Amino acid sequence: MEKLLIKGGNTLNGEISCSGAKNAALPMIASTILNNEKVIFKNLPYLQDITTMFELLGSMGADISLDESMDFSISCNKLNDLEARYELVKTMRASILVLGPMVAKYGYAKIALPGGCAIGSRPVNFHLDALKELGASINLKNGYIEAKADKLIGADIVFEGVTVTGTENIMMAACLAEGITTLKNVAMEPEISDLADLLNKMGAKVQGAGTEMITIEGVKSLHSAIYSIPADRIEAGTYLVAAALTGGEIKINSIQPERLHIVIERLKLAGATINSDKNSISLSMKSKRPLPVDISTSPFPGFPTDMQAQFSVLNALADGNSVVQENVFENRFMHIQELNRMGCNISTQGNQASIIGVRQISGAQVMATDLRASASLILAGLVASGETIVDRIYHIDRGYERIEEKLSYLGADITRLPG
Ligand code: EPU
Repeated sequence: MEKLLIKGGNTLNGEISCSGAKNAALPMIASTILNNEKVIFKNLPYLQDITTMFELLGSMGADISLDESMDFSISCNKLNDLEARYELVKTMRASILVLGPMVAKYGYAKIALPGGCAIGSRPVNFHLDALKELGASINLKNGYIEAKADKLIGADIVFEGVTVTGTENIMMAACLAEGITTLKNVAMEPEISDLADLLNKMGAKVQGAGTEMITIEGVKSLHSAIYSIPADRIEAGTYLVAAALTGGEIKINSIQPERLHIVIERLKLAGATINSDKNSISLSMKSKRPLPVDISTSPFPGFPTDMQAQFSVLNALADGNSVVQENVFENRFMHIQELNRMGCNISTQGNQASIIGVRQISGAQVMATDLRASASLILAGLVASGETIVDRIYHIDRGYERIEEKLSYLGADITRLPG
């Protein structure tokens, strides 16, 4: 298994661009199932999760090709196998995103039930309840969801809890349902608005994405579109924290700063000077030790759970104490034990981590448990004395494109070791 070797102590300086956002791209790729015509994607990130989604669509009969400009075309006009098998679903929970489009387009889907994962039990009951309200019948058997519907019919749906992929799944399904669907208590993440934008470019009628209520008027069919995947706000946030930790000065290009509003506000409280314009964010920490900042995660526009692990490292090196509260997933503190092995002083109780800032940590061999936990261990390695080896980095390859190249470019001493 490949590992990352980091020699800590270098300051990050320079300018980089963000890759396309994984969590925007995944539902967009799934949405092509709704369409008989070709959809072309620009700026797709080269990530394991994207490859897995391609593999899933490919296994169902989609035609996927890469042209000379490195744009991907997907045609789903002849899907012949309406099943998402456990072998693929177990490697990527976001496979559930094909459920809504398949039922809407083909009236049938058989999808392996995604199990729990390192960050929590992560059920899909909100997706299934909402699909039932659109008229689908759902059967759970032998570890699979079997959904059927002669025709989905628009409905007024109030989600029991806020779910990002659940909102996306039902928003996609409702595009081909008969009549009007309203969705309330929806997720408002930028990726929801991005998906609505693509759906509308394909001829759907979606309004209100990014607000508390989404209205979808069903249409008979969708048509071809070309879409460029927007930049990854979590990738940008991760590099901003990395620069703040190392006392550096960086500029991140091709990112919409308003998508990181609360992360930027918290970084300012930690002592960073931040300037943004329409498409870039500049951060300067000028070798100051970070100040502690309490954070509490919640759905957008709150502090993103996907930035909690990285920010916890900043707090762990801060000049003072802080509290980090994780409110979205019940088990997203797996990085803490590994950070403590590097010399951090963090204790957890339930969903709360109490962090006593330390001046210095030391390199160690550590194990990644999920995507954002891996990112936090890499960040810790950047400031630890000596060498840090991060094991199981297949987690990081699911969501960060060429992380060691980007960090090296900014001045980090980081190398990928072969397995
Ligand atoms: N939940 C339920 N029932 C459901 C759905 C969700 O109880 O039917 C609970 C979950 O267990 C969790 C909370 O609701 O406690 C929120 O989960 P949500 O459904 O919003 O998460 P998700 O859609 O599975 C997406 C991202 C995650 C990100 C979360 C929260 C994608 C592909 N994944 O997951 O991204 O953490 O939203 O913002 O968009 C990551 O990129 O590292 C990552 C985990």
